[in-house]
Amino acid sequence: MASALSTDSAALDSCADCSWNPEGASFPEQFAWGAATAAYQVEGSWDADGKGPSVWDTFTHQGGDRVFKNQTGDVACGSYTLWEEDLKCIKQLGLTHYRFSLSWSRLLPDGTAGFINQKGNCSFKIESCAALIQGVDYYNKVIDSLLANDVTPMVTLYHFDLPQHLEDQGGWRSDATVKAFDTYAQFCFRIFGDRVKLWITINEPYIIATLGYEKGILAPGIAEPGTGAYQAAHNMIKAHAAAWHSYDRLFRKQQGGLVSIALISGWAEPFNPNSLADQEAAKWHMAFCLDWFATPIFLDGDYPAIMKSKISSTCKRQGSPLSRLPEFTEEEKVMIKGTADFFSLNYYTTRKVKYQVNTHSQISIFADKEAEEVTDPSWPVATGSSWLAVVPWGLRRLLKYIKDTYNHPIIYITENGFSQSDPAALDDTQRWEYFRLTLLEILKAIYIDGVQLKGYFVWSLLDNFEWTCGYSSRFGLFHVDFENSALPRVPYKSAIEYANVITNNGLIKSHE
Ligand code: NOJ
Repeated sequence: MASALSTDSAALDSCADCSWNPEGASFPEQFAWGAATAAYQVEGSWDADGKGPSVWDTFTHQGGDRVFKNQTGDVACGSYTLWEEDLKCIKQLGLTHYRFSLSWSRLLPDGTAGFINQKGNCSFKIESCAALIQGVDYYNKVIDSLLANDVTPMVTLYHFDLPQHLEDQGGWRSDATVKAFDTYAQFCFRIFGDRVKLWITINEPYIIATLGYEKGILAPGIAEPGTGAYQAAHNMIKAHAAAWHSYDRLFRKQQGGLVSIALISGWAEPFNPNSLADQEAAKWHMAFCLDWFATPIFLDGDYPAIMKSKISSTCKRQGSPLSRLPEFTEEEKVMIKGTADFFSLNYYTTRKVKYQVNTHSQISIFADKEAEEVTDPSWPVATGSSWLAVVPWGLRRLLKYIKDTYNHPIIYITENGFSQSDPAALDDTQRWEYFRLTLLEILKAIYIDGVQLKGYFVWSLLDNFEWTCGYSSRFGLFHVDFENSALPRVPYKSAIEYANVITNNGLIKSHE
């Protein structure tokens, strides 16, 4: 695997890059070394202490083979009761940062239990208090013990697990969820913001929109092709912006933290680099994934022009004068523009992209895009995820694209990882090679391309519930034995190697 990847990468580098060997380089001072998890994927205790159900509780409990072997996150890694075990893993790695998410319905069981009065004070319905107190206690314990061990928390407010009660009212297709999210965000800033200084509002709105509301293969399982994703994304962008403004207005001065949104994106290469149509299609692919969210939030408050024009002309040809892409009002555009304090990127893979004409018979975001994704058969694929073609050099190109397109922002890679299939070998040499090559590309991005990259988070600290793949796809730096009720955590070789990188703040030269 290593040689195939290195050759590809070297061929793509310009000559000026070839003389510099990043292997012996150090990462910048204060570089954030992290690992990440998400509440539903690790916590378990799905209904403990008054926690309300989330869409993932409902989705998995409905069965129907939408998840591998109908597995659920009911127990997962047991992190709600085994937090001290997770902390040991974090300390063993020597992480400087740990990213985790709050379970919205553990804190506010129906998602809407609070309101903010005009003075900005929180009040909460009495029936929510039991869960609220237990949930707050749990997250306080996590945050306080991280800080006591010199680990900086990065907290995601919402990572796929929308409270079921809100979904019952329309979920992200409803404008009411925007307000509910802002209220919840304010609650979290108020309770935890004295200690948490790095916030992510929403994790991967692209995935929630396209797979949760367009294709319906992830919770809440809504299949509304051509409209579901656009509507859900529209409300998530507004919810993010509302929460950012609440932080800015009510908490920033006192708490001094930073707020962003975690955007997933692969890199898109034209399938045929000499084809103008494929070159355009690669741009459209970026427009309908990363730029869909990043353009309004980082640039001008509105969707990419190419996205608006492609969807509206398709709709016209399909006989509808109105675009299926909702429009932001002028006031909303002003509200959305500039609502991220850093760029949070989740990167896993790259695709080659071909122009694919839209015959207008199909109504879906994918048909609107007119770009077909292809995986180069020469790219290795992670054994635990058929979609995860291993292309470390794609990350460097993507980082450069973000630098050039979004005004040279400070970037954190808030997720990057490689899965093994179950049963997974503790000696995961191939996986470490993936991480090593990725870190080399990151060094090139920093020192050759001048990208302001401030941190890197491995997905994931632990093997965990990998959504529709259940426990069959293992992304952890630590192996978890899900058959053993004690859920023991054991480091993979990658964990030992990652700990060395953190200690050295760099890769050790391979010939040493
Ligand atoms: C990104 C998601 O944020 C995370 O929940 C998921 O497990 C990883 N991708 C791997 O698929």
